[in-house]
Amino acid sequence: MAFRTIIEPFRIHSVEPLRLTTEEQRREAIRRSGHNLFALDARDVLIDLLTDSGTGAMSRDQWAAIQHGDESYAGSPSWHRFADAVRVLFPFKHIIPTHQGRAAEKILFSAVGGPDLVIPNNTHFDTTRANVEYTGAEAVDLVIEEGRRPQDEHPFKGNMDLDALDRLLTERKGSVPLVMVTITNNSGGGQPVSLENLKGVRAVCDRHSVPVFLDACRFAENAWFIREREEGQGGREVADIVREIAALADGMTMSAKKDPLANIGGWLAMNDDDLAERCRNLLILTEGFPTYGGLAGRDLEAIAQGLAEAVEHDYLRYRIRSTAYLGDALHRAGIPVVRPIGGHAVYLDARALLPHIPPLEYPGQSLAVALYEAGGIRGCEIGTVMFGLQPDGSEQPAAMDLVRLAIPRRTYTQSHIDYAIEVVTAVAERAGDLRGMRIVSQPSALRHFTATFEPV
Ligand SMILES: Cc1ncc(COP(=O)(O)O)c(C=O)c1O
Repeated sequence: MAFRTIIEPFRIHSVEPLRLTTEEQRREAIRRSGHNLFALDARDVLIDLLTDSGTGAMSRDQWAAIQHGDESYAGSPSWHRFADAVRVLFPFKHIIPTHQGRAAEKILFSAVGGPDLVIPNNTHFDTTRANVEYTGAEAVDLVIEEGRRPQDEHPFKGNMDLDALDRLLTERKGSVPLVMVTITNNSGGGQPVSLENLKGVRAVCDRHSVPVFLDACRFAENAWFIREREEGQGGREVADIVREIAALADGMTMSAKKDPLANIGGWLAMNDDDLAERCRNLLILTEGFPTYGGLAGRDLEAIAQGLAEAVEHDYLRYRIRSTAYLGDALHRAGIPVVRPIGGHAVYLDARALLPHIPPLEYPGQSLAVALYEAGGIRGCEIGTVMFGLQPDGSEQPAAMDLVRLAIPRRTYTQSHIDYAIEVVTAVAERAGDLRGMRIVSQPSALRHFTATFEPV
């Protein structure tokens, strides 16, 4: 490339207005919401970086595909288009559509989980952890040491600690129904897992005869990082790297709301016939018939088209570079962020930025609220609010207190991101004035969605 500027590899074809608000209006809105950003009305948010899940902009060709949606209850052509598109990248024997990722997790862990069992992962995403624990099983995170240290540079901070995995499989022999690997590692900073590490996981699991499942929501971003960073992978097609990753696993869960560029959807896939039958029986109970899962035919079409677009190199180059654009600017401004910058989000290290707020006063929540009040930016606490509540009701500080600024796919332009950089920088300049939070009310699980807070 002769020029430095990363341009969006698309032009805008339909626009959606943003509602500008004042700081006073936002203070009132967040107070009414119990200082929980999930409780805000989206119309009160200016730049919504709460999640990259289901918030992307669909392409012209996805909208056109929606017109081909066939709503037959069973065996619709849209189902075949979906299943074929999934198998091009993930050639598992059984593909089971679900309405989103957590439905796939619920079905999988209902089939394989239970008391006294343990499910290792590099880092469980919150819904994965909750679905594992709901069955009475234990969810264990075995990411490499570097993955727990926000400022450490490592090209594959999502890697699994293979020695720890081997030890766990030895010590808990017979109690591990499967090993999960999350690509990219969302809760650990959107960090990728290397192909070499995935091969290592496969080898350890083969020695212990335990199946490997991928939590593959951000498979294309992970494959792009492999192409960019792993020795010997430079010239490869991303789709080929994805197929190699799939071949190392026995199954997968997927949220189509991420890399597949759809607003809803997911699937569960596997090679094991017996497990597939048990999962399909559960699917029929809660999601629907096995050729549509919880989805309309039009959704299956949008996902099929999105999968083809997700592995395009121009798109992935723009996607990863534009996330890094935000993260690198904040890093240059001296704001502590998880390094290196992940694929779908920039993670602010709230514990480092707000050392005067102890983890049990939720520095991440405090920072997220301040970003909203100052500039209408909605991020998401990924820290002690999300992970601190233990199954026995006690509280422990999470490994890190982060605020995730997730970038919806193909949605915001560089000027929106420049504005976000200004807002975060302004809040960081008065970090010492921020106060911690205390919880006023909370549910017993997944509390970050509905808990209410007040400033300490
Ligand atoms: C790594 C990971 N796994 C699973 C899920 C759950 O997917 P869904 O939101 O579609 O239920 C998410 C969603 O953010 C995720 O990031």
